[in-house]
Amino acid sequence: MRIDIITAVPNLLESPLNHSILKRAQDNGFIEVVIHNLREYGLGNYKQIDDTQFGGGAGMVLMIEPIANCLDKLISERKYDEIIYMTPDAKTLNQSTANSLSLKENLIILTGHYKGIDQRIRDKYITKEISIGDYVLTGGELAAAVLIDAVVRLIPGVIGDEQSALTDSFQDNLLSPPVYTRPADYKGMLVPEILLSGNFPKIEEWRTEKAYERTKKIRPDLLED
Ligand code: ADE
Repeated sequence: MRIDIITAVPNLLESPLNHSILKRAQDNGFIEVVIHNLREYGLGNYKQIDDTQFGGGAGMVLMIEPIANCLDKLISERKYDEIIYMTPDAKTLNQSTANSLSLKENLIILTGHYKGIDQRIRDKYITKEISIGDYVLTGGELAAAVLIDAVVRLIPGVIGDEQSALTDSFQDNLLSPPVYTRPADYKGMLVPEILLSGNFPKIEEWRTEKAYERTKKIRPDLLED
């Protein structure tokens, strides 16, 4: 998978992309991530990328030309499955969206800043808009990092134990059951007997039951879906 990210603040993406699993996914050739600095497409001597909004109102808006020029260049080079815009005024990211994006070949992720981007970019180019939750971040970069993490870990081979991606919370619309590791007795706090029993069908049953209990208590809305 190739992911092109268009951003006015490339540095914000450096740490999340260059450590741990996302770094390994790139080193091992599962993904190629290319970051495009919007400033390089800015207008005039000052490389302007934002301007005040028509009709008045606080906040700067990312201009149409720098973004369009960057997108036109990328689109002329290869076919993209989705051109995604990270924005709080969109549908919220969920596991099902992450699953379907993990099957794509080429993605563009555009991150906004300030008051947002000129609506004409959204009308002409964007095929999918994604929010990571009902709150407003200072920009879309951290949201893009969240999206990329959620998607890339689903690509077969990226995380060592494939089973562990398939049994995540949300893969079956349930939260995960509790997990424990050694010691079995920590100052009198015991691990549930069943997990030490070696009876794997019973353990599975217990885990499913706990997953339902937890979901019902914390996220009953998931059971309604
Ligand atoms: N940009 C700013 N806030 C955001 C959010 N909640 N999700 C996605 N992109 C954003």
